[in-house]
Amino acid sequence: MISFNQSDIFLITGASSGIGRAAALIMNELGASVIAVGRDTARLSSLKDEANNQNNFFIEEKDITEDIENLPEWVKSLAKKYGKLKGIILCAGESITEPLKVVDYNNTKKLMDLNYYAPLMITKAFADKRVNTGIENTIVYVSSFAVYRGNRGQIAYSGSKGAFLASLKTIANELIDKDIRINAVSPSHTDTNMIAKTINSGSMLNELKDKYIARPEDIANIIVFLSSNKSLWINGQDIIANRGAYYYTQEHLL
Ligand SMILES: NC(=O)c1ccc[n+]([C@@H]2O[C@H](COP(=O)([O-])OP(=O)(O)OC[C@H]3O[C@@H](n4cnc5c(N)ncnc54)[C@H](OP(=O)(O)O)[C@@H]3O)[C@@H](O)[C@H]2O)c1
Repeated sequence: MISFNQSDIFLITGASSGIGRAAALIMNELGASVIAVGRDTARLSSLKDEANNQNNFFIEEKDITEDIENLPEWVKSLAKKYGKLKGIILCAGESITEPLKVVDYNNTKKLMDLNYYAPLMITKAFADKRVNTGIENTIVYVSSFAVYRGNRGQIAYSGSKGAFLASLKTIANELIDKDIRINAVSPSHTDTNMIAKTINSGSMLNELKDKYIARPEDIANIIVFLSSNKSLWINGQDIIANRGAYYYTQEHLL
């Protein structure tokens, strides 16, 4: 059975909603201390209210794209405040739908900031021995199945998520001697706030739900496994979480 100790402190970005929220609650239920990061204070507070072990549940309001260069300093300050980190879970992310003919440079840059540069700088900070515990440390990045499927209109999104996947094996190789593993999970559609942006209509959403749409907990459970010592031999991997469904009909997608 997967379990954590109170001294296992995990920083989770995107914890105020969806997949990150589910991961934060499960990690905490299994004994870990959680630093839940998001921009929305009200959502973070209600998340803490729901946590099983509230004494080990901390919330931090932060827009991780605001000052990306200084994210390492921010992560260091959290390690000073709460103690050295056992792991990080990089869940914060957004998507936009812009087919090639309307692709916008600034919108693409914003997605790269959120989905690539910010998690990269947090990863860099975590690798510092003043920040991590030095024993069986883990990083989990939430990418997307959009990287593989070629969803129409998701050029910038899949580019930004795929960029991190392209760096994954190199980071794994560089950190292996520090006892830090890094893995990713690439979910297909999951029932969160984000889904409205990528599925055409409510009725189609209902039609797809049972067969093709994951619950946030379905993805969170994979994140928890990759963050635990039950996955010690998995490193530098991306787990595609699509329940084996590679294509459902194109008209369901924008
Ligand atoms: N849902 C899907 O179908 C799906 C499929 C594949 C991959 N994913 C990936 O899964 C991850 C989680 O998404 P979700 O589906 O759970 O969506 P969600 O419910 O919309 O959650 C997104 C989270 O990211 C946070 N966030 C966004 N921009 C941020 C910023 N600038 N600074 C700090 N936090 C920020 C949000 O914080 P606030 O609440 O404060 O805004 C929220 O906690 C994302 O990386 C997404 O790309 C989702």
